[in-house]
Amino acid sequence: MSVYVSKSLEDTALLGKRIAGKIKEDSVIAYFGGMGMGKTTLTRSIVEALGGGDCVSSPTFAIVNEYQGKCSIYHFDMYRVTNWDDLYSTGFFDYLDNGIIIIEWSENIENALPDNTIKIYISHGNDENERIFKIEGLDV
Ligand SMILES: Nc1ncnc2c1ncn2[C@@H]1O[C@H](COP(=O)(O)OP(=O)(O)O)[C@@H](O)[C@H]1O
Ligand SMILES: [Mg+2]
Repeated sequence: MSVYVSKSLEDTALLGKRIAGKIKEDSVIAYFGGMGMGKTTLTRSIVEALGGGDCVSSPTFAIVNEYQGKCSIYHFDMYRVTNWDDLYSTGFFDYLDNGIIIIEWSENIENALPDNTIKIYISHGNDENERIFKIEGLDV
């Protein structure tokens, strides 16, 4: 488990760059941590570093956003996905192995995550702009 302490948006962007440099074209990244923790912000920097542009937004209503950089990136928001039927209808299982998968609200689909998933647990630090990222399955 790696622990990364971010004290600013810039720190979080740097972490995104580092992650982007180490993942594979079919990696699965699952975030755990509530609203405002920086999941979408971190995703933006990962996608940017992979050449997928800077228009990353929260896929809350779409459930999945797709970005094309060096490889395909599928960005899921599982906030409203609470059972297996819902999950199947998002196409999640068809996207696995066909690109990088990044998942917000992984709490809701934890049992469906593949074994080699990179898990990122995010919590608040001491001050308002501090975030603690605990990363399992990838050395950053
Ligand atoms: N160190 C930090 N890293 C990431 N976001 C931060 C940090 N400090 C403050 N923030 C703020 O927290 C919010 C994170 O929003 P967002 O990335 O949409 O979170 P989530 O997707 O987890 O709900 C933004 O308003 C951002 O400016
Ligand atoms: Mg978000």
